[in-house]
Amino acid sequence: MSDAPILAPLNLVADMSAAGDFEKKHTPHIDVDEVDEGLLVTVSVGWEVPHPNQPDHYITWIELLAGEASIARFDLSPVATVPVVSVVVNVDPGTVIRAIEHCNLHGLWAAEITV
Ligand SMILES: [Fe+2]
Repeated sequence: MSDAPILAPLNLVADMSAAGDFEKKHTPHIDVDEVDEGLLVTVSVGWEVPHPNQPDHYITWIELLAGEASIARFDLSPVATVPVVSVVVNVDPGTVIRAIEHCNLHGLWAAEITV
């Protein structure tokens, strides 16, 4: 069970160039590549600074939204999995893809990209 309150505010860092290591290691990084089936979206945590992956401090889940709709969710285990997930999506051009991750100690963090 998570130690971080699930109803904690969503952290969305507006300017990663001004972010510190704490923000960098929690903010999801979104990569998008065109593939035959659609767009391959890969989310990793964190941004230039790796997040701990220990039994008592880890990323519990990563969720993807297209606009306001949840389109994929990955539940993760500490140590046995690494917080890097990929899925192929089919969305209209201009759709905002948002990735939200949950750290068991530090709550909810998000990033978004327009595809
Ligand atoms: Fe954390």
